[in-house]
Amino acid sequence: MQNVQQYIQDNKDRYLNELFELLRIPSVSADPAYKDDVEKTAHSVEESLKKAGCEKTKVYATAGHPIVYGEHIFDSERPTVLVYGHYDVQPPDPMELWETPPFEPVIKKTEYHPDGAIFGRGSCDDKGQMFMHIKAFEALIQNDALPCNVKFMIEGEEEVGSSNLGKFCKEHKDILNCDVILISDTSVIANDVPSITVGLRGLSYVEVEVTGPNKDLHSGVYGGAVANPVEVLCNMISSLKDENRHITIPGFYDDVVVVSDEERAAMNQAPFDRKAYMRDLGINDTMGEKGYTILEQTSIRPTLEVNGMWGGYIGEGSKTVLPAKAFAKISMRLVPNQNNEKITQLFKEHFERIVPPGVTAVVKPHHGGEAVVTPTDTPEYQAAARAMKTTYGKEPIPVRGGGSIPIVALFEEVLKVKSVLMGFGLDSDDIHSPNEHYGLFNFYKGIETIPYFYQYYAEMKGRKD
Ligand code: BES
Ligand code: MN
Ligand code: MN
Repeated sequence: MQNVQQYIQDNKDRYLNELFELLRIPSVSADPAYKDDVEKTAHSVEESLKKAGCEKTKVYATAGHPIVYGEHIFDSERPTVLVYGHYDVQPPDPMELWETPPFEPVIKKTEYHPDGAIFGRGSCDDKGQMFMHIKAFEALIQNDALPCNVKFMIEGEEEVGSSNLGKFCKEHKDILNCDVILISDTSVIANDVPSITVGLRGLSYVEVEVTGPNKDLHSGVYGGAVANPVEVLCNMISSLKDENRHITIPGFYDDVVVVSDEERAAMNQAPFDRKAYMRDLGINDTMGEKGYTILEQTSIRPTLEVNGMWGGYIGEGSKTVLPAKAFAKISMRLVPNQNNEKITQLFKEHFERIVPPGVTAVVKPHHGGEAVVTPTDTPEYQAAARAMKTTYGKEPIPVRGGGSIPIVALFEEVLKVKSVLMGFGLDSDDIHSPNEHYGLFNFYKGIETIPYFYQYYAEMKGRKD
């Protein structure tokens, strides 16, 4: 391991430059205008795998964006780790809020990253974190020290719901055969408080459309008599939560697993500074579900958020108009045992039931996914915990995260293997926001930690009979 760590130190600058190259390609999966760039990124990832020493690589076309696959199998008696990550990124908008252009990475210091952070879309989510795996793999291969067989599956549609990856997994079960899936696409509590994510929320995502009159009307001639879809939509949305911020959709909580008081107490032991949280976000109070702490509200409790809402005139100046339509995109984060399709159906039935006379409403389901919780008494969790203890000098804390990686539940279902979520970002890294960044400390710490995961995992799994 000494050689491997030395190799990483010796190649630090090159690693960073290579990541910069990857960050320069705008692989925005949501916007068809970037289709060619997304494809170019897939090939660039494949090239990196080859250069690192991966003996077999392939870019698989899908109905959407390509999947990059790689494998290095050298001993059938050793355990096989499948590394999953994504090379696609969220759209950079709103562009005007970026201090430096999203696809021109630069290093800048921040409060939480005094040694500097890489600013650019995808730096943390997930190009930077995914790339750590390629570089750790390179260090292991180049020093003839790889303890496990490794497979890579790096997709280009995570940020748009991974809709083609499920099919890919079902069709390629044989090549994806592995002992564990290793993912770095989550965060640690702080750079001096390592943690491992042991849960992710599920997701149900819908779009709603409320229609009133058959055309935009003069707001003076008709206003006062005709239902205004924007107003109606606001009322409908605000009725989805009561005064305690409980969701009012009948049946919504029916399947929610009640977390024991002991578990809740343990969870709230994790360091959390509410004042710093509010200061960082520029808010003067928080507004979550009554009866739960912020840590609980963002992990073990389901929620409903309006992601965007539009309708009527939003251009320059004013236009007196009573709009014909109003729209909103709404996401619901789910917890274990809730089923995303059932929740989507409950939402649809409820929303269409509460629509008042004078307008009509249509609910269009988007993508979804199930929540996951991963046990801590497994060789993979223990290997990750030991690896982090080695490089951080502190035992990592298991925490449940609030975000979603819907494919994790599918991996369990289709491939029958568990995932370990050993992420290295910080929640304050502004993923999905303007000025996304990833600490240099975090990037290198990840590269240093991953080889230990392989070493400990191979030790714990032992050789196959
Ligand atoms: N990497 C995130 C998920 C994440 C971030 C989990 C931080 C835990 C902590 C992932 O890329 C993501 O953004 N997922 C989407 C899911 C989706 C678009 C279906 C999400 O959570 O909104
Ligand atoms: Mn991600
Ligand atoms: Mn993301």
